[in-house]
Amino acid sequence: MGTAALQRQANGRTQTLWLRGPCLLVLLLLMLLLLPAISDTRQEALARLQLSYTDLRSANSSAAFWGDGESGGYQALLLDEDRGWLLVGGRDHIYMLHCDNLEQLAREIYWPAPKEQVEHCRQAGKNVLTDCANHVRLLQPFNKTHAYVCGTGAYHPVCAFVDLGHGTEEPSFQLPPHTVESGRGKCPYSPLEPFTARLSDGNLYAGTSVDFMGTNAAIFRTSVYGSSPHYIRTEAYQDHWLNEPEFVGSFPIPDTHSPDDDKIYFFFRETAVESSQWDRHVYSRVARVCKNDIGGKRSLINRWTTFLKARLVCSVPGPDGLDTHFDELEDVFVLETKDPQNPVIYGVFSTSSSVFKGSAVCVYSMASIRAAFNGPFSHKEGPDYRWVEYKGRIPYPRPGTCPSETYDPLHKSTRDFPDDVISFMRAHQLMWEPVLPINRRPVFMRVSAPYSLRKIVVDRVDAEDGQYDVLYLGTDDSKILKVISIPKENWETEEVILEELTVFQKLTPILNIELSTKRQLLYVSSDLGLAKLPLHRCQLYGQACMDCCLARDPYCAWDGTTCSTYFPSNKRRARRQDVRYGDPRNQCDMEDGSKAVEERLIYGVEGNSTFLECVPRSQQTAVRWTVQHPLAHNSRDLLPMEERVVHMKRGLLLQRLDPGDAGLYTCLAQEHTFSHILARYRLLVVPRQRVVSTPVREPGNSGTLPQYGQPPKSYKDWHLMGTGSLSVDEYCEQLWYREKRRQQKLRSLKWKQAADSRKARVRRHNPLYPLP
Ligand SMILES: *[C@@H]1O[C@H](CO)[C@@H](O)[C@H](O)[C@H]1NC(C)=O
Ligand SMILES: *[C@@H]1O[C@H](CO)[C@@H](O)[C@H](O)[C@H]1NC(C)=O
Ligand SMILES: *[C@@H]1O[C@H](CO)[C@@H](O)[C@H](O)[C@H]1NC(C)=O
Repeated sequence: MGTAALQRQANGRTQTLWLRGPCLLVLLLLMLLLLPAISDTRQEALARLQLSYTDLRSANSSAAFWGDGESGGYQALLLDEDRGWLLVGGRDHIYMLHCDNLEQLAREIYWPAPKEQVEHCRQAGKNVLTDCANHVRLLQPFNKTHAYVCGTGAYHPVCAFVDLGHGTEEPSFQLPPHTVESGRGKCPYSPLEPFTARLSDGNLYAGTSVDFMGTNAAIFRTSVYGSSPHYIRTEAYQDHWLNEPEFVGSFPIPDTHSPDDDKIYFFFRETAVESSQWDRHVYSRVARVCKNDIGGKRSLINRWTTFLKARLVCSVPGPDGLDTHFDELEDVFVLETKDPQNPVIYGVFSTSSSVFKGSAVCVYSMASIRAAFNGPFSHKEGPDYRWVEYKGRIPYPRPGTCPSETYDPLHKSTRDFPDDVISFMRAHQLMWEPVLPINRRPVFMRVSAPYSLRKIVVDRVDAEDGQYDVLYLGTDDSKILKVISIPKENWETEEVILEELTVFQKLTPILNIELSTKRQLLYVSSDLGLAKLPLHRCQLYGQACMDCCLARDPYCAWDGTTCSTYFPSNKRRARRQDVRYGDPRNQCDMEDGSKAVEERLIYGVEGNSTFLECVPRSQQTAVRWTVQHPLAHNSRDLLPMEERVVHMKRGLLLQRLDPGDAGLYTCLAQEHTFSHILARYRLLVVPRQRVVSTPVREPGNSGTLPQYGQPPKSYKDWHLMGTGSLSVDEYCEQLWYREKRRQQKLRSLKWKQAADSRKARVRRHNPLYPLP
């Protein structure tokens, strides 16, 4: 304690300034000052369309698979779009489901851990129910007829082939027992340890630990043919290779046209050796190895000789070069492009800061990742033994280069590398330059949200005004956010949350997401089950061209009669869509707004209240009310602080009506730069003395008619639509108290949260404050 690092980003390079003892206070103050700079100046937009679990189900926009009650923990998914099935790995089970019909279970394999292994696990002090089961954690495609599967096997990992058969109609689905082999170096022991593995050309590349305690973690390559003992790994217990890594993803990405150059890229977070010797700091990394690396001859035997890693930065530039870093990588998605060597890399990050909780999405180009690996190496040197840029001689062939006979006949394999290359590789895994995101800032950020982001998939969509990357972000509380980031001037981007969907009934982290572009579906898994969601719900945006346009959903367009799916190739009709600006004025034949919205007549009784309903379609809409009194020429704004006027979520409540309140009330919606009329009411105020004692309860009472306009035809005119037998007044009163209670609750909740987080902050930073 007493030491903290202040990160300063200068010319894209991180320098760490050391502050000790009393400086901690200054630092704390600084952080507290900086915090509002992020959370207050940025107004975080709400999702335009928010659908609860019940909304999704009742709109038939979600289907689910819940297993058979014995399984759960659905971490592994494998989708075969062509044959139309989805494999799901859970606790002790593998399921084969129909892509289009999750409710109908196609096949199931029961694959528990052996009884003696469960007993072993229990004796080692693990929880029998949660840990000592076979948690299926990996499903990889192998060949046309088989998939490769790994499970934790009650803290004794195992892998096997699953036979899927040839036919598409009635697939065979079984796990031949003779194919079961050890999963060491392929799958972790623990059901929760973050891990990654990828099959490529019959080899499994995995980032996992190989011991019960999870302390010996490495990047492995093992063969999946039989029980071949041959493997390659990173050196064990050497913190400059890997230091308490938590693996997130791995992907084969070709570097050039030559297969000799093929590499596997790994993404993970780890305790950063270069950040400090005293303070634990987590950084995110991208690392790579050559697929044809077979280890060294005299030294680095069965160890990678081409392993390099670089820091992956996701930060928000702040004033005075002081950046806010999102250091902990949570998930990576590799978006394929036409050029196989240059996919786009999307990363989801969270903060390790104790001051605030936040998540961000950053995007990286392969060019920037390659630039870091082609740049200078880092090196531990000097009297204080710090990590600095290596400025010495770099041996030939450049460390990290894949051996290639066509390029240099002397270096057919990594065993032919000269000794100086091998000894350089023993100490220089870390690159000096970090990898910075495109535009040097996140494309999406949440700092005050009640959830954090865990998973990402991305769909590249062609729209009328260009191409958009639609991000699907899984949260730790059962939600999927559908987000687009729209480029603006000055490298800025506008974040638009199109939809926020609550996929599961209970709050639970999203564990995995699979995207089917062919079926335009998303498969989302959690501990509870698996859900299938269409990528778009255009009809829910509304019944008018204007609503469809305002939605800014690249999947949806106005086709002349409805808001429906947009097909870029479909040139039959003009489609109305404006993702960039969401401005219906350019797209829709806008009728004169005042004519389009019907004026409704409302009677109020002097001294009583009345309620004018106006519900906007989107959470992003700002609602404004104006009133024009009978003798006035202009209408004026009704301000929220006006006496007797209450602006509520679903409309306007006018209390203790006065004859002067009569007039034309207009509800205006403002979204982006576009404003339109949602509702118009002509309010007539009936003087109290003109209403007999109980006019509302006596149908047919015609003795006392209001003096203005059309007289009410029956007592029903005194009631609001859909309020049952309540009078206008009773209804309003109820609404008013409900709203008041809701606001009170919100206020006290916010106050409590603020107090709690203040307390937590003080506790964390003040060693004198006793910990609970
Ligand atoms: C959802 O599906 C059910 C059964 O197929 C149907 O009765 C219902 O009308 C559908 N609801 C909507 C909103 O489409
Ligand atoms: C796929 O791999 C399995 C396991 O090695 C093997 O038994 C099977 O014959 C292979 N199928 C094809 C079509 O190559
Ligand atoms: C007006 O309010 C009074 C007192 O709250 C109530 O008795 C009366 O029924 C109300 N009139 C109407 C028309 O709602």
